[in-house]
Amino acid sequence: MIKKHFTMYEIPILTIDGTSGVGKGTAAAKIAQTLGWNLLDSGAIYRSLAVAALQENIELNQEVMLSKLAENLDLRFEAHDGEVKVFLNNQEITKNIRSEEAGNTASKIAVFQLVRAALLARQRAFAQPRGLVADGRDMGTVVFPEAWLKVFLTASIEERAKRRYKQLKKKGIDTPLSDLITALNERDARDRSRAVAPLQPASDAIIIDTSHLSVDEVINQIMHLFHQQKNL
Ligand code: DC
Repeated sequence: MIKKHFTMYEIPILTIDGTSGVGKGTAAAKIAQTLGWNLLDSGAIYRSLAVAALQENIELNQEVMLSKLAENLDLRFEAHDGEVKVFLNNQEITKNIRSEEAGNTASKIAVFQLVRAALLARQRAFAQPRGLVADGRDMGTVVFPEAWLKVFLTASIEERAKRRYKQLKKKGIDTPLSDLITALNERDARDRSRAVAPLQPASDAIIIDTSHLSVDEVINQIMHLFHQQKNL
C-alpha cells in the first residue's frame, strides 16, 4: 500500500463505505471511540434531511427545494456517553431518523446532485484533530478522496437482512425476512445506480466481505489495516 499524505486539512481520515445494513455504522463508532477520533455518520445527515423533508411535506422529486432545505438545515449532533443524539430545529430526532421510512426517503433524495453538493461542506467540517472516521456510501470516492485509509464493507443480502431482522426484533418489530430482503435490494439498487456519487468502492479501497465475520472481527481487521498503514 502506498503511504498517502494526510488530507488538505492535514488530518488523518479513515473512510468506511458500504451497502445498507452491512454494519459499517457500528464498526465506525467503535473505531472512532478507540482512536479518540471524530465520527461522521453521513447517513444520519441524509436521514435527518429526509425527516425534515417529510415534516415540511416537500415532494421527494423537488431537487431545488430539497437542496435549499439541505443548505439551511438546522442540524446538531451531540455526543453523550458514546451515544450520539441528533437535533433538528432543536427537537430531538435521534429515534425518528432510524425508521425504515427515513432510510428509504434518504436514499430517494440522495440521488440529487444539488442535494449532495449542499451537504458536502457540512460533512467535511467533521474532519477535526486528532482524526476522523467517516462512514457512508461516498466517503472514499467523493467527500474525502484523499483519505489516509479507505475500507469498503460488503455482505450477502441474506446476511444483511438477517442482521436487520434481529435489530428490529430487539425493538419489538416483527418484519418478514423476505420484506427486508426486498427493501435492501431496492435501496442498494438505487444507491448503486444513481448518476451522482454512486455506491462503489474507491479504486484504492480495501474490500472486506463481512458475511461470515462478527462485528468484533470486522473491527479487528480494520484496526489491523490501520496499524499496518501507520507503520508504513
Ligand atoms: O447509511 P444509511 O443507511 O444511514 O444511509 C441512508 C441513505 O442515505 C442511503 O440509503 C443513501 C444515503 N446516503 C448517501 O447517499 N450517501 C452517504 N454518504 C450516506 C448515505
